[in-house]
Amino acid sequence: MTCTLSYMDVVKEVERVLWPRPLRLFTAGPVACFPEVLEAMRIQMVSHRSREYQELHRDTVMRLKVFLEAEKSVVLLIPSSGTGFMEASIRNAVSKDGKVLVTVIGEFGSRYKETVERNGRIPVVLEKPLGKPVLPEELDDALKKNPDVEAVTITYNETSTGVLNPLRELSKVAKERGKLVFVDAVSAMGAADIRVDEWKLDLVFSSSQKAFGLPPGLAMAAVSEEVFERAKSIPERGLYFDLLEIREFLEKQWSTPTTPPIPQIVGLNVILRIIERMGGREAWLRMYAERAERIRRGVLDLGLQLFAEPGYYSPTITVIYNPPGVKGPVIYEEMRKRGVEIAKGYGKVRDVTFRIGHMGYITNEDIEVLFNTLREVLAALGYKASR
Ligand SMILES: Cc1ncc(COP(=O)(O)O)c(C=O)c1O
Repeated sequence: MTCTLSYMDVVKEVERVLWPRPLRLFTAGPVACFPEVLEAMRIQMVSHRSREYQELHRDTVMRLKVFLEAEKSVVLLIPSSGTGFMEASIRNAVSKDGKVLVTVIGEFGSRYKETVERNGRIPVVLEKPLGKPVLPEELDDALKKNPDVEAVTITYNETSTGVLNPLRELSKVAKERGKLVFVDAVSAMGAADIRVDEWKLDLVFSSSQKAFGLPPGLAMAAVSEEVFERAKSIPERGLYFDLLEIREFLEKQWSTPTTPPIPQIVGLNVILRIIERMGGREAWLRMYAERAERIRRGVLDLGLQLFAEPGYYSPTITVIYNPPGVKGPVIYEEMRKRGVEIAKGYGKVRDVTFRIGHMGYITNEDIEVLFNTLREVLAALGYKASR
């Protein structure tokens, strides 16, 4: 059937389902996208085997390599959410029945542990009290006691507690002991410093719906040569996340074995160009650091308390203790009624915290509205702000 009539009104119908009214997003992801990204993603599709697509893929990989300082690694873009690479790291680079030292500082560290178990490998857990990071000497000690682990997993930014692990130092310790380093940077990449070559990270991955401010559906990773070497000796790598096959398609045709999320790759390309126009990587990371600082100051000005240990605050999400007598989910609902969506507490601290995400497209006006609304909501719930 040829399309002669216009059905643009159905777009409005669907829009009303997802966006019955405007909301300012301070979520944990998906987050608000740059308007330029949304505009570019309307582009008509091309075949992922076409020369034009290959040029887009190549250019996006090259730009991301620069952003991550990953000249020596292979940068992969695949159709998946971030968890795909979590699974791929274990299936491709840890031998069957092999051991992995999993560092756990919250819910997403626990997910890595589960990934190890469900893929038939053995996790050795180094767990910290919630709100605290893993310290290099603790990792060193754990590796001394478990010399037979093949790899170490690190959650760079723990989205459930708002803690940023000292990745550079942790990786140094793991590499000195000859271990592979896998990094869950899902809520860090794009906002926290990552220097893949210098820090010798073996597999560091993220998802599009976080700090790059894109819609979900694309996962990206920088992968070291050592991971590919290990993969060659592991026969059951599965089909969808076989890193050797994914690399082969990249090298032979600047594409992926299965169909990639082309609009998201267009969006990533646009955001990487915007980063350049804004002054480059350092300027962009500074923007994130300043935004996070402003959010924390606003929270403290209300007399509220941060959950994370000082010195390890996340640049992408701020986790806050519920004020006495007030429930986090009630704050969330009351904020939403007033047009601001924050995030509820997550994991084991779900009942004692609420969260403000600060990833993606957020304006100064959004932040002003956030705090005016939060002040109003807390007052309505009987909490008296200190200032
Ligand atoms: C630290 C961390 N790891 C992993 C994930 C899972 O990512 P995805 O939903 O993209 O698979 C999330 C999602 O919030 C996260 O914050």
